[in-house]
Amino acid sequence: MDQAEQLRLLVTKQAEQKKKDRKVSRVITVTSGKGGVGKSTLTVNLAIQLSRLGKKVIILDADFGLANIEVMLGIRPEYNLADLMFRGKGLKEIIIQGPEGIGFISGGSGIQELSRLTREQVVYLVQKLYELDELADIILVDTGAGISDSVLEFVSASNEVLLVATPEPTSITDAYALLKTLNRRSGFSKEDTVIKMVANRIKTKEEGDALYEKLGLVVDKFLSLKMEFTGAIPDDPNCGKAVMQQKPVTLADPGSGATKAIKTIAEKIAALEGGSDKKGIAQLFSRWMKSIYKKKK
Ligand SMILES: Nc1ncnc2c1ncn2[C@@H]1O[C@H](COP(=O)(O)OP(=O)(O)OP(=O)(O)O)[C@@H](O)[C@H]1O
Ligand SMILES: [Mg+2]
Repeated sequence: MDQAEQLRLLVTKQAEQKKKDRKVSRVITVTSGKGGVGKSTLTVNLAIQLSRLGKKVIILDADFGLANIEVMLGIRPEYNLADLMFRGKGLKEIIIQGPEGIGFISGGSGIQELSRLTREQVVYLVQKLYELDELADIILVDTGAGISDSVLEFVSASNEVLLVATPEPTSITDAYALLKTLNRRSGFSKEDTVIKMVANRIKTKEEGDALYEKLGLVVDKFLSLKMEFTGAIPDDPNCGKAVMQQKPVTLADPGSGATKAIKTIAEKIAALEGGSDKKGIAQLFSRWMKSIYKKKK
């Protein structure tokens, strides 16, 4: 079968699948204005806690910086998203088994290359991602920090966004700046997106409440965005220790304050059913691609 024929087949199959009432996963994008505030820590430990609550969870590492989830889990993925896109690997081959049944996909260079894909490659990728929707109940996407274009594209295509902020003044201003830029993007739908804020590294409960109030006030007043307070995680030295051990803190220190706080956050997230118009990872990617192509024209 030549390539063109394969493509035609794929597109037909894709259309057929679309018609069926497909299972879509809930996609939660974890982001922050400032770097180093605890996104990857939250992503990994949340994944384990959600898995314990009976959810099938797959982490997609869309951070192009340091491969810190890999470090945190102490795994070295053989394949990544780029192998799926360009080197003929199947979806199951690029999903690495993490602790407690969680799955992990390394973005590798794949995420950066997404904006250079041809239309045919996009069709192929989205087709593969339909399979991913079938495999996971929840997909947690760990993004890089800040206002880079690809992070914003991804966040604006998501229904559920976990925004991590710490009480540091720069973390708050950077979080605000991120939301402000997001709000201006054409692909972003205010109505369809709930920003769930997580306060990390707080010293007291009051500090977490104050952080939410401070950010919530300006976000509501100047951006009229919906933002919810999803939880607070204490500043806990066990987090740093766990990184050194290359183990998620949930496993390294089950009784630690950070572990308990993330468990509470997981329970809250699991109790919700996700956005009412849950789109799944395949649709999220195709929305993302569309906005990239629109900009290129
Ligand atoms: N609640 C916490 N208490 C203490 N230390 C923490 C806490 N959360 C995260 N850390 C530490 O902060 C550092 C940065 O965390 P992490 O890598 O999760 O941040 P990130 O937002 O993913 O960073 P990047 O933007 O570089 O991807 C790590 O050393 C981690 O151990
Ligand atoms: Mg990170």
